[in-house]
Amino acid sequence: MQKSKFLNIVLASAVLVLAILLTIKENDSGKSANRVAVASENSTMAASDSSAIPFNKKSVGIKSYLYPQPAMVIGSYDKEGKPNMMTAAWIGICNSDPLSIAVSMRPATYSYGNVTDTKAFTVNIPSSQLAKYVGYAGTFSGRDVDKFKETGLTAVKAEFVNAPYIKEFPIVIECEVTAIHELGSHRQFIGKVIDVKADIAILDAKGNVDVNLLNPIIYAGGNFYETGRLIPKADRSMEKIDGKPFVADYSKRHENQTLEVIHNRKSVRNFTDQPVSKQQIETLLRAGMAAPTAVNRQPWVFYVVTLRKTLDALSEQLPYAKMLTQAQAAIVVCGDMEKAGNLKDEGYWVQDCAAATENILLAAESMGLGAVWTASYPYDDRTKVVIKELNLPENHIPLNVIPIGYPTGEDVPKNKWNAENIIWR
Ligand SMILES: Cc1cc2nc3c(=O)[nH]c(=O)nc-3n(C[C@H](O)[C@H](O)[C@H](O)COP(=O)(O)O)c2cc1C
Repeated sequence: MQKSKFLNIVLASAVLVLAILLTIKENDSGKSANRVAVASENSTMAASDSSAIPFNKKSVGIKSYLYPQPAMVIGSYDKEGKPNMMTAAWIGICNSDPLSIAVSMRPATYSYGNVTDTKAFTVNIPSSQLAKYVGYAGTFSGRDVDKFKETGLTAVKAEFVNAPYIKEFPIVIECEVTAIHELGSHRQFIGKVIDVKADIAILDAKGNVDVNLLNPIIYAGGNFYETGRLIPKADRSMEKIDGKPFVADYSKRHENQTLEVIHNRKSVRNFTDQPVSKQQIETLLRAGMAAPTAVNRQPWVFYVVTLRKTLDALSEQLPYAKMLTQAQAAIVVCGDMEKAGNLKDEGYWVQDCAAATENILLAAESMGLGAVWTASYPYDDRTKVVIKELNLPENHIPLNVIPIGYPTGEDVPKNKWNAENIIWR
């Protein structure tokens, strides 16, 4: 190589290295400037926890981001006494005594004129099954269509106020207008609650609304949602206030509700004293019996234990089922050897009952209940205890005992994903 050519290469390389060094330095100083900006923005971030997701707020403008919002349907009569319904999200309880509800309506809505004239309205609370009607009542105007006729829903004259309620909606609230506020785009009607009616089907044994059965609609971001899993009650979760920095986790956005339930299932060993209804147990058993079985033998029988004495006796004698003292009920999944027939000795009944058990555990999670698989079979000593306490016939072999109740929130799911467990071929 010529000497001059060699010198040129050396010179060019030196310039390149210098340029790279300068760029790195520039980026670094840019980064540190950013860091300073972020640090000053996040002055409220926990200083002690460097791994916490920074609570990096950004102004998104003046938007109606008040989540969750309700989606209710307002019933009213027009001047001719024709019933109308309109969806309202700008609605909520605004006073306790007298119990009052505030609902805001635009002058363009037909209901606005109706309620202004009649000084009465009903609030009809939909279950998620009624979502299509909620969408319809919020899209079409009673000025143009008869929404009751079009939907096939039934208008019933309210008992105490001059407004119709919707028969098919599980909760209806009769309101009498006591005040009107002009707010700008909307007129706010304050309605004193005169009466509340709820379908018997959604009431629990104490006569209170069972929110799981009501399954009201949650409106957020222009979409309708159903209520989700039960999370620990406010008073219980307060026990966990420990002064430690809160770390946000936005990573758990499952693709659908089924996957969410699967990933949230956990072995619940701590229960509250909230009762579990017979209907809820039946829902769990329906899920259990939906499991696949070898040649569709369904070689099972399910014992439901609710007697306190029996739950306590089982708890005392089963080493890993101590939580039965707190549980409201237990399901004992048994193999039925008569139904298992000639497949009995192949052990298929164990697989079939195991599939039913997992279905029960998942169903419990989906309903906000807690449950845990405590083994009986193949342990001779435990199996004998269950057979004795439940007085089981010879052909019923208990695979497990599943305590059921409402979780206290202490038990959490485990992340068991491990890519090393997979062998791709
Ligand atoms: C989910 C949802 C929520 C709504 N909330 C309100 C509300 O709070 N106030 C309002 O004036 N309009 C609201 N609307 C729009 C009215 O329901 C809509 O204009 C309807 O057609 C009016 O019916 P009407 O003319 O028969 O009274 C909402 C619509 C939807 C879909």
